[in-house]
Amino acid sequence: MANSDATLRDKRILLVIAGGIAAYKSLDLIRRLKERGATVRVVMTRGAQEFITPLAAGALAGGTVYTELFDREAEQDVGHIRLAREADLIVVAPATADLMAKMAGGHADDLAGAILLATRLPVLVAPAMNPAMWAHPATQRNIATLLADGIRLAGPERGEMAESGEAGTGRMSEPLAIVAAVEGLLAGGKADASENVADGKPLLGKHVLVTAGPTHEPIDPVRYIANRSSGKQGFAIAAAAAAAGARVTLVAGPVGLADPEGVSVRRVETARDMLAAVEIALPADIAIFAAAVADWRPAHEAGSKLKKDGSGIVPPLHVTENPDILATIAHRRDGRPGLVVGFAAETDDVLENAEKKLGRKGADIIVANDVSPANNVMGGAANTVHLVTPEGIESWPQLPKDEVARRLIHWIAGRLKPTA
Ligand code: C5P
Repeated sequence: MANSDATLRDKRILLVIAGGIAAYKSLDLIRRLKERGATVRVVMTRGAQEFITPLAAGALAGGTVYTELFDREAEQDVGHIRLAREADLIVVAPATADLMAKMAGGHADDLAGAILLATRLPVLVAPAMNPAMWAHPATQRNIATLLADGIRLAGPERGEMAESGEAGTGRMSEPLAIVAAVEGLLAGGKADASENVADGKPLLGKHVLVTAGPTHEPIDPVRYIANRSSGKQGFAIAAAAAAAGARVTLVAGPVGLADPEGVSVRRVETARDMLAAVEIALPADIAIFAAAVADWRPAHEAGSKLKKDGSGIVPPLHVTENPDILATIAHRRDGRPGLVVGFAAETDDVLENAEKKLGRKGADIIVANDVSPANNVMGGAANTVHLVTPEGIESWPQLPKDEVARRLIHWIAGRLKPTA
């Protein structure tokens, strides 16, 4: 965090504290933000005051703590609209399930809700709740709505909860992790901390293997099963890895994209060909499986073109399962790449499904993206991704696919264990 002082100096943070046991960590968050030169204004919900006092928060922040929407004095002092505007960033920590439901629904019946509805500032939420509440479809729905509204997420993380015997995803991120997320947001996408590592070539001497594009699964010599993947994100990742100094092998399904500069490309058609090409390319330090591999293929490929003979009888299409390339490589005993990264293209419950996929496939990182048709990810130029790891979730704003690739490569490089 070499540049942390500069990023937060003279920045105005409005911190909204909601009612959860994690509120005690928000006192430390105030301190961490202030010691980096930020000014912090605090708003507390009713619930928050059950856990910590406005006096304690005010003493650390060095100012009034705002709690009431209909408080004549406070409204004359600054008013909720000014609170919503006079800052560089709003942080909600802890964000309870209830407050997030309010935000998703646009409720404004208390000061925190009114500010969050009236603001045009970037908002970062750090959720904290019981794992069952986090996993509930209602919370996941609300999170999806908030992310679609452009709100950024820090955490939650996995671990022990305050309640004894409870573990899972739901713990609020540590104050320093929230500070890092604040800095990332304030830096406005200019640079992430890991980018300062080395001289822009953090993957020098590493072999990176990337899969990209769809696969084509033949029905007969002229027909096949396919999907809408353009390969753009995977090709951009291969190019970014090469730019970061890596030796890169790209195993690409059928796409019309040119070979990225400095990348060794193997073109394949089917999932089985892709798996074979991946196995040949190993060993690798990092494997990034960005391909949209067909889950099924026709059980029998006809040797000649199937004919419509006028009888009205349609040929049956029996399918069989394709090998899962990511899971096969991630579960290898010998020769498993040091870091295995998978993608999860989802249309529903994006984060929950990505978390499940992490365990099921044996990946170290799942890059989740919402590919609902409304987002135009498949074939489009931009992508909104969430990085899901066993430690927690990090969400990035919508970015061009090239920028997602560049950041992802630097982020991954930052997670590589130093080689002995
Ligand atoms: O199960 P799902 O297709 O959503 O998983 C997505 C991840 O798994 C991606 O990283 C994709 O490249 C990989 N995958 C694979 N082989 C398959 C299916 C998916 O490598 N047959």
